[in-house]
Amino acid sequence: MTTERTLILLKPDAVQRSLRGEILRRIEAKGYGIVALSQRLATEDVLAAHYAEHEGKPFYAPLVEYMGSAPVVAIVAEGERVIEGFRSLAGTTDPTVAAPGTIRGDLGRQWDLPVIQNLVHGSDSPESAAREIGIWFPELG
Ligand code: RTP
Ligand code: MG
Repeated sequence: MTTERTLILLKPDAVQRSLRGEILRRIEAKGYGIVALSQRLATEDVLAAHYAEHEGKPFYAPLVEYMGSAPVVAIVAEGERVIEGFRSLAGTTDPTVAAPGTIRGDLGRQWDLPVIQNLVHGSDSPESAAREIGIWFPELG
């Protein structure tokens, strides 16, 4: 058993398109538990910490601006290999080529949107998950 926790974000496009329920359904149907869930307008400080690894990349500034433009839903999910499992549920970064059956592949390309608007974020390693959970839910640390 490798029970883990991961940090999931439902990005502004998911919230605005009322896809919270559809995405949460997929997470729960897969068998993961929801440890914490909160909708909020992310501050610049939180987003700068969350996306620190991307600072300097061309998409960093528009990404931080977009993520702070409207509410997001932050979630801590738990389960067997949930870090890898949620990224598999989410699909690859670009919704155009994300596999059918994934969140991004099924729901992510309704209009001509930039790659930044790809519905969800999921931690990519145990180290990232611990760091990101500490940023979004310090009370769980
Ligand atoms: P995430 O962190 O959101 O789970 O997504 P990811 O690992 O698949 O992608 P990552 O490389 O960590 O990039 C973080 C987010 O930046 C935006 N992005 N835009 N070429 C682009 O325009 C581009 N590349 C990345 C996406 O919102 C991506 O999820
Ligand atoms: Mg990432």
